[in-house]
Amino acid sequence: MDYFTTTSNAARRAVDCVIVGIYDRDKLGAAAAHIDTASKGAIKRLIKQGDLSGQLGRCVVLNDVAGVRAPRVAVVGLGKASQFGVRQFRLGLEAAVRSVAQTRSKSILNTLTLENVAEASAYYLARYTAQTVGDALYRFTEMKSGKRKAASPLKQVGVSVAKRGDAARVTRGTKHGDAIVAGMTLAKNLGNLPANVCTPGYIARTAQQLARKHKKLTTRVLNEAEMKRLGMHSLLSVTAGTKEPAKLIVMQYKGTTGAKPIVLVGKGVTFDSGGISLKPGPGMDEMKFDMCGAAGVIGTMATVAKLGLPVNLNVVVPAVENLPSGNATKPGDIVKSMSGQTIEVLNTDAEGRLILCDALTYSRRFKPDVIIDVATLTGACVIALGHHRTAVMSNDDGLSTDLVAAGVAADDRGWPMPLGDEWAAQLKSNFADFANVGGRDGGAITAGCFLGKFTKGMNWAHLDIAGTAWKSGKQKGASGRPVPLLTEFLLDRCGALP
Ligand code: BES
Ligand code: MN
Ligand code: ZN
Repeated sequence: MDYFTTTSNAARRAVDCVIVGIYDRDKLGAAAAHIDTASKGAIKRLIKQGDLSGQLGRCVVLNDVAGVRAPRVAVVGLGKASQFGVRQFRLGLEAAVRSVAQTRSKSILNTLTLENVAEASAYYLARYTAQTVGDALYRFTEMKSGKRKAASPLKQVGVSVAKRGDAARVTRGTKHGDAIVAGMTLAKNLGNLPANVCTPGYIARTAQQLARKHKKLTTRVLNEAEMKRLGMHSLLSVTAGTKEPAKLIVMQYKGTTGAKPIVLVGKGVTFDSGGISLKPGPGMDEMKFDMCGAAGVIGTMATVAKLGLPVNLNVVVPAVENLPSGNATKPGDIVKSMSGQTIEVLNTDAEGRLILCDALTYSRRFKPDVIIDVATLTGACVIALGHHRTAVMSNDDGLSTDLVAAGVAADDRGWPMPLGDEWAAQLKSNFADFANVGGRDGGAITAGCFLGKFTKGMNWAHLDIAGTAWKSGKQKGASGRPVPLLTEFLLDRCGALP
């Protein structure tokens, strides 16, 4: 997608469609007022007739409005002016883009950026514009047979700015937003691909392809024999039941010299049947999304590499399939992790932590400045927070605060959850150093505490994205989260925010 930034009057800009907003109670947005003046009151007349409404998300595309250069004007409802915030901005814009996508428009101008959006600067509005367009236009058609439906012809997105002085920041916003869309699209595609295509080997090849595109990026893939030599018996216990070879994917991006790296570790279970602790049948197909942590960190790497950010970033992805078979790990089996600690596997469906713990131990060799793991780790997290926020746990309150703040700024929100010895005590085992499950109560937290046993002395955070990584139901599909949150955290760290 190409972007441009403009201070021109909405009525005079030559684009295929101008997007303008109107509020409840017939209040016109800034650009709607310009169009109304240029057309000698056409907008107000249509409102009076009841053909246009300020209801949030209602959109009408008008053709050939007198006095307006663009052949189309998409008028979208923005709701109450007093309640216009980031969420309303994005909902309104998304509705408009969906309507415009039904037309042949190749270029659009978003003028909603001229509105007063509570707590959002011109830079962020430009970034949200790119992201909202990216989300609205995303389609997953790779697995459909026959002629692929042509993607929307949209090629150019303009962003209106009120002051010339904002133009540079807005241009930076669209550039960052465009790279975030690229990372999210990669993450969505990996997530949406079925488990018979998106295997551990497929994810590894995707990571290798990404490295071929960027000079500062290298990818190394370890096979099972190499993992065995490293003592990763916890990770290997998860892959014991499948014929699909497990991979440990290690990506290293060097954007600066001398700085310790930030390490992102992503859960890459390409299918989670539960293993011998088999999951119930209904909805099990959604466990193809159990590699969305991996997709999120590889997507973030794609964004960072595309922007060439001055940061050192490593991505570590343990990729496995969790299936039952005659060779599978059994409840009660005890395995030795790479750290030397022994684990009683009471439930083979708590497999995410079993692969992450060895990936976290492996990551110590990078002496990380910060290490963040990202995982669709627990159903309990979905019970706690629903599908709206990613759970943020950390052994450092400052890091947790930074990540939650990054989620707010990126409009990809998280929420802090505690860690502590009280919960860790639920993991006691009579036979091994500890068990891999701690009972139903506080299940998201006991999972975090389990990981905490492998991150002592590191500045570590854990993001449980079980509720946010994909949508179920009619709109089933990967969300691309938490690429925006992680990118925001990294942009902030390397001083790339305006
Ligand atoms: N991948 C699942 C967690 C999950 C479940 C994510 C549903 C999203 C939706 C994970 O491997 C798992 O099975 N966790 C168990 C842990 C339990 C056995 C302690 C769970 O949440 O039931
Ligand atoms: Mn599981
Ligand atoms: Zn899982």
